[in-house]
Parts: sequence; C-alpha cells; structure tokens
Amino acid sequence: MQILFLGAPGAGKGTQCKMLARHMDLPHLSSGDLLREAVRNQTPAGQAAKSFMDRGVLVPDNILIDMFREKLHLPECGRGFILDGFPRNVAQAKALDELLEEINRKLTIVVNLQVDEKILTERICGRRICSSKACNTPYHLKFAPPAAENVCDQCGSPLMHRSDDREDLVAQRVKTYLQETEPLIEYYDKRLILRTVDGEGDPDEIFADLLRTIKVLA
Ligand code: AP5
Repeated sequence: MQILFLGAPGAGKGTQCKMLARHMDLPHLSSGDLLREAVRNQTPAGQAAKSFMDRGVLVPDNILIDMFREKLHLPECGRGFILDGFPRNVAQAKALDELLEEINRKLTIVVNLQVDEKILTERICGRRICSSKACNTPYHLKFAPPAAENVCDQCGSPLMHRSDDREDLVAQRVKTYLQETEPLIEYYDKRLILRTVDGEGDPDEIFADLLRTIKVLA
C-alpha cells in the first residue's frame, strides 16, 4: 500500500504514521524527519533548508523532490510506504505523480487528519521528540509524557525540543499550511482516494478509526 497523510502542523501525522508503520511493517517517510537529519548532518540540502524551516515556510520544492526520488527507489519501499509531509503543495503533488509513475505505483489512500486549529499551539509547544534519528518518536509534556523524564521509552535516547516548535512560529506554520497544503485536499478528493479521519481525542482511538478507514480501500 502507498499511503499519504495530510494535516496541519501538530495534527498528529507523525504520531499516527509511526503507529501505522509498526502495525503494517511499512517504511515511514517523513519529510520533516528527513530534513532535520540533513540539517544535523550539514548536508548541502540541510544547509539550504534550515533558514526556511526556522521561519516556518516551505523549503524549495527541488530539495524535497530529490530527497523523495532517492527514497522511493529504495528496495525497502518495494512493499509500499507511508508518506508524511510530502507533498506539501500542488507542484510537489504533480512531481509525486511522476515519481510514482517511475516506480509503477499509485497512491492507495490519502488520509486527511483533521483537527481544530485552536488545539495546534498547545500540541506543538508541548512536543518533545526522541533525539535518535532512527527513532524520532514524538512525546508531549502533558498529553503523551515519557515514563522517565526526558528519556525516550522506545530507545532510551534523550528527548529534544524542535527549534521550530515555538509559539511565535505556530501562526506562520499554520498560514503556510492553509495557503500551500490545504488545496491538496481537493486535489486528491477529485481522485476519490481522500478520506478524513478525526485527529482529536485519544491517539489509540484515532488509530483504530484510521485502521478501519484504510481497510475499506485496501
Ligand atoms: P514537519 O516536521 O513535517 O512539521 P509539520 O507538518 O509542521 O508537522 P508536525 O511535525 O509539527 O506535526 P505532526 O502532525 O507530525 O504532529 P505530531 O504527531 O508530532 O515540517 C517541518 C518543516 O519542514 C516545515 O515547516 C517546512 O519548513 C519543512 N518541510 C517539511 N516538509 C516539507 C515539504 N514537503 N516541502 C517544503 N518544506 C517542507 O504531534 C504533535 C504533538 O501532539 C506531539 O507532541 C504529540 O505527542 C501530540 N499529539 C499527537 N496526537 C495527539 C492526540 N491525539 N492528542 C493529544 N496530543 C497528541
């Protein structure tokens, strides 16, 4: 299966994608995680991306398209994959259509994880993530705290605070989402593969709803 997640910053895409990746044994390709890894490793793509990420605006399309071309051709994606954060505008969606054609695949389902804008600031500002690049598990100081303070339950690495998870950046990130990414809901709805899942409430209940939704199109 080829599954794509859409949703505002802080909607819970990373949380649900990680659960789904474990459940279905599929690779989870997160544009944000890939970009943060490139920034950490100071690759040319990472160096070019950093100033855009720090302002809460989109990184230039070519950087993302090159990254995902490389990933989608990997043998580990042969059984399918879960896309989280790419594409993020119509130009990237068209590029993804071409990339999928190159590997002879189609999107099975596009999940729109829907939450009210009002809850995004609290979710984003309280987020902590595992600092291990192989793990990257998201936590929340109030809604999903780790068992031991500042330590990842999954792998024992210290947790970190993302540099763009600042209250003063949330409005810009949401504005970028509404202007650039939200039009993709219509883009995929026209293909009849878009399904909306309520992203508010208990993460396990959201996940159960997500599985029911996916099974219909599987
Ligand atoms: P990216 O890392 O993709 O950030 P984002 O889309 O803003 O999404 P988030 O990671 O903030 O949220 P999420 O929906 O994954 O939520 P999570 O599960 O962590 O992108 C960062 C930047 O990179 C962008 O601003 C841009 O500059 C650049 N970029 C990325 N992709 C790009 C692209 N394609 N093109 C150009 N530029 C690109 O949950 C959030 C918090 O809430 C966590 O603390 C979690 O524990 C908690 N939580 C989750 N679910 C629940 C729940 N049900 N109840 C309560 N709390 C919950």
